Amino acid sequence: MDLHDFDDVAENYDLYLDMMYKKEDNHSGFQEFYLDFAREFGKDGVIDIACGTGAVLLYLAEHGIMADGTDLSEAMCRVADQKAKEKGYDLNIFPANMTEFQSDKKYSCAIIARSGFMHLLTPDLQRRALLNIRENLVEGGMLTFNTFDPHPFFQAQQMNTKENDYSLRLEYVNKQGQREKIYNAISYDPYTQIMSGNWKFETLDDNGAVIGERIRPLKMRQTYRQEMKYLLELTGFEIVNVYGGYHKESGEGSAKNVIWCVKKV
Ligand SMILES: C[S@@+](CC[C@H](N)C(=O)[O-])C[C@H]1O[C@@H](n2cnc3c(N)ncnc32)[C@H](O)[C@@H]1O
Repeated sequence: MDLHDFDDVAENYDLYLDMMYKKEDNHSGFQEFYLDFAREFGKDGVIDIACGTGAVLLYLAEHGIMADGTDLSEAMCRVADQKAKEKGYDLNIFPANMTEFQSDKKYSCAIIARSGFMHLLTPDLQRRALLNIRENLVEGGMLTFNTFDPHPFFQAQQMNTKENDYSLRLEYVNKQGQREKIYNAISYDPYTQIMSGNWKFETLDDNGAVIGERIRPLKMRQTYRQEMKYLLELTGFEIVNVYGGYHKESGEGSAKNVIWCVKKV
């Protein structure tokens, strides 16, 4: 399976993600954060890159900002588009790789929400994405994206796990009304800085017996903030703000989720 193929999860993505963040809350406040960002910088157009099923895109539309959306996965774009139409919005949502998409118009604001940038697994892909996004921004245009800083405590834990050391993350009810349990096993390679996660979905019958199982591999790259500072400089961006969370917590010190707000120079 293509590691970045979200086709098999697109239909259920919102259902289980809502459940996950209810329990873990590590993205609390993300929609407000991106709305503020779009309001401040989006006067010449906003693009939501790696928009997924439209969590940010639709939130912006509900608040009067009609952004464009793009995602590598056609299925994710389709779900986002369907949701937009159901709510009466006619948005421009198109499938594309962030390393190479080209738009007819240039934007003053680009958003890569909730770790979309971490799906780029090498510094070269990160560089290509930043250069390409820069091409699609007006002079002085702003981009926000987030990275996870490699964290010694989690690294140590995840360097000792195997690909089938599953632990239960959550249970939810899928689009077909069936209960599903989701497990994951995460391991970390300090040489590539890649977190590899196997996500296992078990479908249950009414008595709780397992009637189906699928495993979905997912890889994301962590990035040292010093590395990112140089990459941004190399690709023609100036750092405007660095936050440690969606409530604009300080991005210094031990912040794990690092949110970058950068300007095209
Ligand atoms: C963690 S999801 C986040 C989705 C959305 N931003 C949200 O907040 O719900 C990551 C998304 O990144 C997309 N993606 C992964 N690699 C990509 C790439 N190279 N270009 C564009 N989208 C990509 C995936 O298809 C997926 O929809």
